[in-house]
Amino acid sequence: MASPQDLHLATTQSYDANPTMEDERLKAHRIEYEVTLRTILDHLPKDRATKILDVGGGAGPYSFALAGQGHNVTLVDLSSSLLSLARSRLSEDLNVRGPHRILEGDALDLVGLFPDEIGTYDVVLLLGPLYHIMSTDLREKAIHQAWAMVKEGGWLFCAWVSRWAHYRDVAMREPRRLAAKRAFYGLHAKDGDYVRVNSDGSPVHAMHHESPANMPVLLRKLTGREQVTMVGLEGVLAGGLDRLVNELHGEAFEAWVQKCLEAATDEMSWTMSDHIMGVVRK
Ligand SMILES: C[S@@+](CC[C@H](N)C(=O)[O-])C[C@H]1O[C@@H](n2cnc3c(N)ncnc32)[C@H](O)[C@@H]1O
Repeated sequence: MASPQDLHLATTQSYDANPTMEDERLKAHRIEYEVTLRTILDHLPKDRATKILDVGGGAGPYSFALAGQGHNVTLVDLSSSLLSLARSRLSEDLNVRGPHRILEGDALDLVGLFPDEIGTYDVVLLLGPLYHIMSTDLREKAIHQAWAMVKEGGWLFCAWVSRWAHYRDVAMREPRRLAAKRAFYGLHAKDGDYVRVNSDGSPVHAMHHESPANMPVLLRKLTGREQVTMVGLEGVLAGGLDRLVNELHGEAFEAWVQKCLEAATDEMSWTMSDHIMGVVRK
């Protein structure tokens, strides 16, 4: 069986092999992007630039948007190809405001990467690494490391993919799979781990699907803060229901953004989102 480190490498290689696919992802999920970005912006002071660390930021969808609003953003990711896309976006258009620094690095070693910047960030984003780190201890380590970088009074934003999202995806793409892979889904119900393998059995891509009920429990345990806000990033449009909404523009699209923001923090609704973000103040 592959170790968490082998799976780490396989996932990085899969992002490196096809960076454009990830870069295009949020164009097909504009609601997730808007709900995430607006939730982050709502927590930022309006009168000053803040210092932001975007960990697992990929080609920088949030880094560029936040830098564009004048914030000082450091973008970190494991995938050198996604980071190259971010760099080329900056070099192709000198008018674009982008991240101040673009660095290859691991969410598991932020303290090693930035030893002089512990506790100095107004905001740390961990929107991606917890989707792929394939061990409970290492996921906890990533949250610890991200929390260590946040300054007193600053905010941690930390996202997971929901376990239920995977079942909705299977139902839409390959509904027979649930019965056909009974043994696998017995394990998945317990650990939420999903590894795609090659014909020779070597891992290609690894995903962790977290139980929504566990997300706030983990955040409270690892940050020591009781006040945790959970945000469902697709709002009421989880499970691919955003497909037609994604084609809308102007007022028609904005009405859906507002409806999804309304549902995002509703206790009865966030648990059914595909991507779920926890927000904690230090
Ligand atoms: C689904 S993408 C998310 C990108 C972006 N943050 C977003 O929300 O759209 C997951 C990202 O996490 C990165 N990643 C996965 N594990 C990581 C780790 N241990 N450290 C840093 N980045 C990691 C991947 O390379 C990829 O860019």
